[in-house]
Amino acid sequence: SSDYRVKLVEVGPRDGLQNEKRAIPLATKLELIERLAKTGLTTIEAGSFVSPKWVPQMDNSSEILQHLLQHPPAAPNPLTFSFLAPNLKGLNNAFTILSQHPTAFTSAGATPTKEKPALEIAVFASATESFSQRNLNCDIATSLTRFREVIQAAKDAQPHALRVRAYVSVVLGCPFEGYDVDPHRVAHVATELLEMGADEIALGDTTGMGTAPRTKELLNCLAKAGVRNEDVAMHFHDTYGQALVNTAVALEHGIRTFDCSVGGLGGCPYSPGATGNVATEDVVYFMETLGMDTGVNLDGVVDVGDWITREIGKENASTVGKAVLGA
Ligand code: HMG
Ligand code: MG
Repeated sequence: SSDYRVKLVEVGPRDGLQNEKRAIPLATKLELIERLAKTGLTTIEAGSFVSPKWVPQMDNSSEILQHLLQHPPAAPNPLTFSFLAPNLKGLNNAFTILSQHPTAFTSAGATPTKEKPALEIAVFASATESFSQRNLNCDIATSLTRFREVIQAAKDAQPHALRVRAYVSVVLGCPFEGYDVDPHRVAHVATELLEMGADEIALGDTTGMGTAPRTKELLNCLAKAGVRNEDVAMHFHDTYGQALVNTAVALEHGIRTFDCSVGGLGGCPYSPGATGNVATEDVVYFMETLGMDTGVNLDGVVDVGDWITREIGKENASTVGKAVLGA
């Protein structure tokens, strides 16, 4: 039954790599995306159209988008690629590439094929003013005004509308304001973004400070505000080792979309000390133990996690990955 199906959004190529200090070669990033596509993952966050002064590692996102359109990766299923775009400048940089390949992708809402992937852009708001300032250099209200323009432009894009994901960061804890993030504030920002036309809200536990009871409280608050479970994705970082516990709570609540990063790679450059997202391997294994269907091959993602962590010289942060590898 579809109630047992879980959608995983692989954010490793973006969230996983954005914080790496050494420039990762374009070829490595493309190989990572190609290897991930083979494992059965359907949705891959592949890059970020942000200021290179702010996040230098994401500077070759135009080349990544270009390559994915010219050479769609071989995969057992149609793919969706997602790219962050915080403002019209970023979206227009994406449009520059898309306008060169107008027939290489499907429109939002249409069913993607193996030849023509679907594309999504992602805006990213904050639940606290301090994180908004650090991450976007503006207050929440200003960011929402910009996102309204970005969402509108993505929806009006010719010849194909783009799907839009909207993050809300620091929903369960803020590096500058602590644990005390008001869930009503999260609900307010989320409903504004949905009203603007966002197709999905990704709730970011940026700092990994989320706990089981507070995850439950947040989701109850969102439900009371009228946010539907099918419009919500959970984006857990595993800094405090609570990501799978919080995943269980969200699953029980009825959420069916979860972000994860192969090898547990990652961290946010504007969230000091934050580690990677919950590892894809760990989420796939966990879902399997529950009889949930992710469509993702566990051994496949374990191999990708082993490969990429060696490639960039990081410790493999996936507990399941290390166990399967016997490391
Ligand atoms: P700003 O400095 O206020 O921007 O930064 P500005 O509009 O004043 O422009 C300054 C310069 O940047 C100009 O260039 C612009 O053209 C350029 P100059 O005239 O000086 O040569 N610029 C751009 N260049 C390329 N792409 C763009 C762009 N926009 C302006 N899109 C800005 C504002 C939003 C650009 C900046 O704050 C920024 O890039 N922030 C992004 C920070 C970021 O990427 N953080 C990590 C991603 S979020 C995250 O990881 C959390 C998440 O995983 C969820 C979770 O875990 O919670 C999603
Ligand atoms: Mg993140």
